[in-house]
Amino acid sequence: MTNVLEASDVAVHYGGVRAVDGISFALEEGRISGIIGPNGSGKSTLVAALTRLTHLTRGELSFAGARYESVRPASIASMGVARTFQTVRLLPDLTVAANVQLGHDARARRDRPRGRGLPAPVSQALDRTGLAEMAHVLPSELSYGTQRRVEIARAIVMAPKLLLLDEPTAGMNQSERRDISALLRQLRDEGLTQLLIEHDVQMMLDTCDHLFAMAQGRLLTEGRPADVVADARVQEAYLGKGWKAHAGDQ
Ligand SMILES: Nc1ncnc2c1ncn2[C@@H]1O[C@H](COP(=O)(O)OP(=O)(O)OP(=O)(O)O)[C@@H](O)[C@H]1O
Ligand SMILES: [Mg+2]
Repeated sequence: MTNVLEASDVAVHYGGVRAVDGISFALEEGRISGIIGPNGSGKSTLVAALTRLTHLTRGELSFAGARYESVRPASIASMGVARTFQTVRLLPDLTVAANVQLGHDARARRDRPRGRGLPAPVSQALDRTGLAEMAHVLPSELSYGTQRRVEIARAIVMAPKLLLLDEPTAGMNQSERRDISALLRQLRDEGLTQLLIEHDVQMMLDTCDHLFAMAQGRLLTEGRPADVVADARVQEAYLGKGWKAHAGDQ
């Protein structure tokens, strides 16, 4: 087994706030790893640290075996790391296709064909996220859930080696969530390594191959998803005592 990403003793402090407080973990290639944990436990800050969008107070990061904690955020995409944000970040004046094409251009900056029609990877990303029919509308005409799918399309069009998803299904209904879960698993089956943050624990059980549980900037435990949610410390810090998965929900 190969680790795509390794983090060692990563800490991010904002003044006296220890948002991330000494975390070590590895993301294994070809699987969906998930992070659960209460609001404010440091999940988004950890993703910001992994993508160099915030400072590291201490710690080491490596990607595909190479240290990268000192690289600039602008280099992250060309390294092969793509992400979606916890809040929708689309350009409102660009069509769905043009928003997705931004991701394509970020990766393939040179030699962009200027012909009519969309580059094949853009059409493909739109197809796979179920957006082909909406390619030429503006994001404001779409439901919130569909806007989130545009963000996923914009990330996967970069053909990343690692995709980080911070609450990609927030604001979606159950059936939209199931679609996203199926999409992420399909991408995983094609070899895309992912790190997923979600508060929908049932979705995490149904989607993730491996789970990390965080609380107060630290890692409480990690392991098989079913084992992690059964852990007394995780139930205490996050789920509430006696939390049970609904087998066969998916
Ligand atoms: N830029 C910042 N400046 C100061 N404090 C910050 C900053 N970003 C995050 N924090 C603090 O760090 C802690 C962790 O926040 P973070 O957003 O990482 O949590 P989270 O686990 O993603 O929570 P949620 O589930 O609500 O998204 C919180 O106490 C938050 O207020
Ligand atoms: Mg967050």
